[in-house]
Amino acid sequence: MKTTPVIQVRDVEMSYDTPDGTATILKNCDLQIREGEFISIVGRSGGGKTTLLRIVAGLLTPTAGEVTIKGNPVQEALNDLAMVFQKPVLLPWRNNIGNILLPLEFRGKVTPKMKRDAQDLLELVGLADAGSKYPYELSGGMQQRVAICRALVSHPQIMLMDEPFGALDAMTRDTMNLELQRIWAETGRSILFVTHSIPEAVFLSDRVVVIGDKPGRVIADIKIDLPRLRTREHRFSPEFAAYEHQVAELIGVKEGIS
Ligand SMILES: Nc1ncnc2c1ncn2[C@@H]1O[C@H](COP(=O)(O)OP(=O)(O)O)[C@@H](O)[C@H]1O
Ligand SMILES: [Mg+2]
Repeated sequence: MKTTPVIQVRDVEMSYDTPDGTATILKNCDLQIREGEFISIVGRSGGGKTTLLRIVAGLLTPTAGEVTIKGNPVQEALNDLAMVFQKPVLLPWRNNIGNILLPLEFRGKVTPKMKRDAQDLLELVGLADAGSKYPYELSGGMQQRVAICRALVSHPQIMLMDEPFGALDAMTRDTMNLELQRIWAETGRSILFVTHSIPEAVFLSDRVVVIGDKPGRVIADIKIDLPRLRTREHRFSPEFAAYEHQVAELIGVKEGIS
C-alpha cells in the first residue's frame, strides 16, 4: 500500500507582474516528499528555490498548481511545519530559551515540560549552557542552532530549511551538517533543505532535486544511495564524488555554485 506523501507539489507555477511584463519564476514544478525523507533542493542563484520553499510553507500562494501536506491544503497544516530561514532572526531582547519558546507562546501557555524540552534541544545541538544567554553572546553558527531548536520545539513533522548554513565558515558548516543528520535520524522528521552547496546536498540527502532556471522547474531527482549515518570520511569516497559530479553537470557548473 502506498502512503500519502507528506508534501506533494503539483504543477506549481509562480509568476509576477513586473514593469517589463510577466516574469515566470516557477513553471510545471512537481515534487513529492515521503515521511522521514531528507530532500535537498539545489540550483543556480535566482532559480526559484526560496520561492518554492515559501510556497510549500504557505507563505506565498502559487499562481497555479497546488501544494498539499498529507493530502490537505497547506493552510490547514501549518502546525505540522516549521521553517528555518537563511538568517537566524532571533529577538535580541529575549534570551535564547525565550527565543526557542516563542512559537509555543504564540499557541498558548508554556508548560514546565516545554521548558525542559527547549533545554533538551539546546543540549542536542551542543549548546547546553546557552539558554540564559542572549543571542548577541553567541556566534552566528550558534545562533543558527538556536533557530533550529526554535523550529524543532513544536515537534513539527516537516522542517523547511532555506540555506541555513550559508553564512557559516567551512568547519562549522561541516559540524552542523553532522548535527543536522543526527537530529534528523533521532527525530524522524521530513526535511526539505535548500542549499547552494553540492557536497552539503549529497552528504545530507536521500534525494537531491535539481531546479533548472528560467523558469524554475525540477530537472532531476537523484537518489543518493550512500549508507547512513554518513561520516566525514564518506565525503572522500569515489561514490560521493560521482554524485557531486552528476549534480554539478546538471546545474552546469564544474565546482560549487554560489
Ligand atoms: N515579489 C517578486 N516580484 C518579482 N520577482 C520576484 C519576486 N520575488 C522573487 N522574485 C524573483 O524570482 C527569482 C527567484 O528568486 P528566489 O526564489 O529567491 O531564487 P533562489 O532562492 O533560487 O536564489 C529571482 O529572479 C527574483 O528576483
Ligand atoms: Mg534563495
